[in-house]
Amino acid sequence: MADTLTITDNRTGKTYELPIELGVIRAMDLRQIKTGPDDFGLMTYDPAFQNTAACRSQITFIDGDQGILLYRGYPIEQLAEQSTYLETAYLILFGELPTKSELDAWVRDVTLHTMLHENIKTFMQGFQYDAHPMGIFLSTVGLLATIYPGAKKVLDEENRRLQILRLIAKVPSISAYAYRHSIGRPYIYPDNDLSFTGNFLNMLFKMTELKYRPHPVLERALDILFILHADHEQNCSTSAMRGIGSSQADPYMSLAGAAAALSGPLHGGANEAVLRMLKEIGSVKHVPEFIKRVKGGDGRLMGFGHRVYKSYDPRARIIKRTADQVFEVTGRNPLLDIALELERIALEDDYFVSRKLYPNVDFYSGLIYQAMGFPVEMFPVLFAIPRTSGWLAQWDEMMRDADQKIARPRQIYMGSPRRDYVPREQRS
Ligand SMILES: CC(C)(COP(=O)(O)OP(=O)(O)OC[C@H]1O[C@@H](n2cnc3c(N)ncnc32)[C@H](O)[C@@H]1OP(=O)(O)O)[C@@H](O)C(=O)NCCC(=O)NCCS
Repeated sequence: MADTLTITDNRTGKTYELPIELGVIRAMDLRQIKTGPDDFGLMTYDPAFQNTAACRSQITFIDGDQGILLYRGYPIEQLAEQSTYLETAYLILFGELPTKSELDAWVRDVTLHTMLHENIKTFMQGFQYDAHPMGIFLSTVGLLATIYPGAKKVLDEENRRLQILRLIAKVPSISAYAYRHSIGRPYIYPDNDLSFTGNFLNMLFKMTELKYRPHPVLERALDILFILHADHEQNCSTSAMRGIGSSQADPYMSLAGAAAALSGPLHGGANEAVLRMLKEIGSVKHVPEFIKRVKGGDGRLMGFGHRVYKSYDPRARIIKRTADQVFEVTGRNPLLDIALELERIALEDDYFVSRKLYPNVDFYSGLIYQAMGFPVEMFPVLFAIPRTSGWLAQWDEMMRDADQKIARPRQIYMGSPRRDYVPREQRS
């Protein structure tokens, strides 16, 4: 017997059989249930989409209760251990791990697209000296739409692939330019002899040396952080990417919107907020007082809690290990002791335990980035670079999905009923 849900409408006595497929009912099946004679059909009310599947996806699986994260079926722990960011990006985008020759071709293709149009330098000059790099990042990604007007052909698969390559390759260059702009240093061209993350470090930190040589431990740590951030299914920024892309806007426009969504402190701005919080706490001895304030409703413990994970975020565990390796090279970040104490107290405290609030990916990533020499303003940008592959994979999947249409949520209208315009002089 097929799985169905039987709904009885107590007002009319009518019953309805709704098919359950893949563990869901289709919201449109509720339309047959009318709440009144003029009603067009029953809807669900789901602010913040807490219980609504907006798509079927084959990219990322999360089990929030058990702390499991899989990209295309592969556990995040194995990818972080054995893969590289570019290989993982290929997996996320195309569904399978590449063969040796596929990977070589993919890395070569990405590498060939790392240069930015020279006009971008002039564009960068227009930003204030202290402009937030995330603002520069998303504006410059939007600008690329004007440089590549052919990107509008979003229904053309080959064309989508070209824009995907360009975006994955160019986001590190844009990010590095944004950083160099903020500190008043000349922009550095990509060095195609280096790895994806090695070249990124080169574009950020190269000074007068003829050849920049990234520290292999830091280069690998950044690669691991990029793997961990590559995708996370239907989060706020990915939903923005899909929502904007659903109007057939070009991928640069859509990705600029996704980056804007990522910039908020509850999403990609969280690691920046964690560092500010740790600095504000200032010392291990102030931790109990800070926890008390949070429990009293005054602020949040940034880097804790997650809409989906109700156990330890598996990425946080990997990051904590990576942090130890980075600190061996850079020296220990003095804020680490405050973070460890916060985690220790929070994991024992009933307020956090009962609400299932555990450290998320952002709790330790900021400490690593800071130890590597990044200013806090760069943290959300460091999230956006790898997430670009996830956004694009989700966008491409949506473009292939016959079920998808332009996104258009419904509302429950709570405003005034129809009324007549009152001339200005008659208003009291
Ligand atoms: C991530 C986050 C937005 C998820 O929020 P959510 O699923 O909407 O959960 P809610 O905001 O409904 O929180 C549920 C309860 O836990 C509390 N809570 C959630 N996160 C908290 C935090 N970081 N510190 C203190 N309390 C927190 C809420 O106050 C609420 O308590 P209540 O039931 O007494 O009102 C939220 O946990 C948060 O703000 N965390 C800090 C920011 C952060 O690290 N973001 C990065 C995510 S990767």
